Amino acid sequence: MLARSHSMRDRLAMYNANALKIGLFGANCSSGRSATRVPERWSASWPDCLKLARMAEDAGLDFMLPIGRWKGYGGETDFHGETLETVTWAAGLLANTKRITVFGTVHAPLFNPIIAAKEFVTVDHIGEGRFGLNIVAGWNEGEFDMFGVTQREHEARYAFAQEWIDAVKRAWGEENDFDFAGEFLKLHGVRAHPKPYGGTRPLIMNAGSTATGQAFALRNCDAFFTANSAQKTSLEASAQRVAEIKAQARALGREIEVYTVGQVICRPTQKEAEDYYRHAIIENADWGAVDGMLALKHITPQSMPLYEYVKRRQDFAANAIGGYPFTGDPDHVAEELGNLGRAGIRGIAVSFVNFLDEVPYFCAEVLPRLARLGLRAT
Ligand SMILES: Cc1cc2nc3c(=O)[nH]c(=O)nc-3n(C[C@H](O)[C@H](O)[C@H](O)COP(=O)(O)O)c2cc1C
Repeated sequence: MLARSHSMRDRLAMYNANALKIGLFGANCSSGRSATRVPERWSASWPDCLKLARMAEDAGLDFMLPIGRWKGYGGETDFHGETLETVTWAAGLLANTKRITVFGTVHAPLFNPIIAAKEFVTVDHIGEGRFGLNIVAGWNEGEFDMFGVTQREHEARYAFAQEWIDAVKRAWGEENDFDFAGEFLKLHGVRAHPKPYGGTRPLIMNAGSTATGQAFALRNCDAFFTANSAQKTSLEASAQRVAEIKAQARALGREIEVYTVGQVICRPTQKEAEDYYRHAIIENADWGAVDGMLALKHITPQSMPLYEYVKRRQDFAANAIGGYPFTGDPDHVAEELGNLGRAGIRGIAVSFVNFLDEVPYFCAEVLPRLARLGLRAT
């Protein structure tokens, strides 16, 4: 581990030398990232989250990425019906850890940018430079209605998010008493102290899937998370996509790292892993929740032929609701993760059906294999 320093470079490296960063995704939401009815599904209770963060840190994992979610998706389990708010969640975890980076996920249209900038600074001081920010422009209309906030059309969502992050960054900077006159935001005499920890600023990420979302990430972020199934295509195709994204950022005079997401089921044998995947993800899928999520993306039995809908929902569940399933024995999982590293992917945020039960085995077996591949420090 590198000594905690005050350089932006070390912050972006999450203060360690691991070439392939590995984090945990969605632990602040009930059921995590698995729309399953199995009784051992993730609780997302605070004691479980705290235990998990300490366990992850001790095992050498690099970060925790929560999901900004405000309302459950329904179904038998009310998938994501219980969620801990991400910035306060990060504050609690950072106060109780020493090394791991913890993100907060914010929906830009729901937070006043100056209050948000100050919250991030506060959390960043608690974590001594280990807070990261995931900006979401917004997509889930049902959630926005709950706040009385009208969702803008897609391009305007990102135009607003641009002003929002510009205002946050200016509040973090050295200017005093500045005015901000945007199309959406009009702020006067802005003064905000202290500044983020150590003279740097939090690592910023975004995970837009559209061209507009990607362009926003290229302009503003240090890390761009892709949820596409690049892993399912060849190593060469993944490497090419990473190279393209980095080249586009360089054309803007910026550096960006590419991350992805996945769901891990790792067991001593391939058969055990595949059996559990079938049991938890397919046979015990919470189809009501899956339908609720698809409906929010305007994918319904009414919007397309029934056979096509049935296939879409099968694929959505089988692909762990948008995160490639890494299912297998430790050799298999390490090989697949290793391919991501070889393709130039900087890191991955992974989920488990029950994080506390499954993370120890994953860390004990897969991390040393990745170290042998040269992708992780021992
Ligand atoms: C790794 C990852 C994390 C995300 N986190 C959230 C989140 O916490 N809350 C949310 O509402 N959307 C989240 N999203 C959705 C994206 O921010 C984005 O809105 C979505 O991919 C649609 O893309 P677009 O904004 O380009 O239309 C996430 C997506 C990914 C891949």
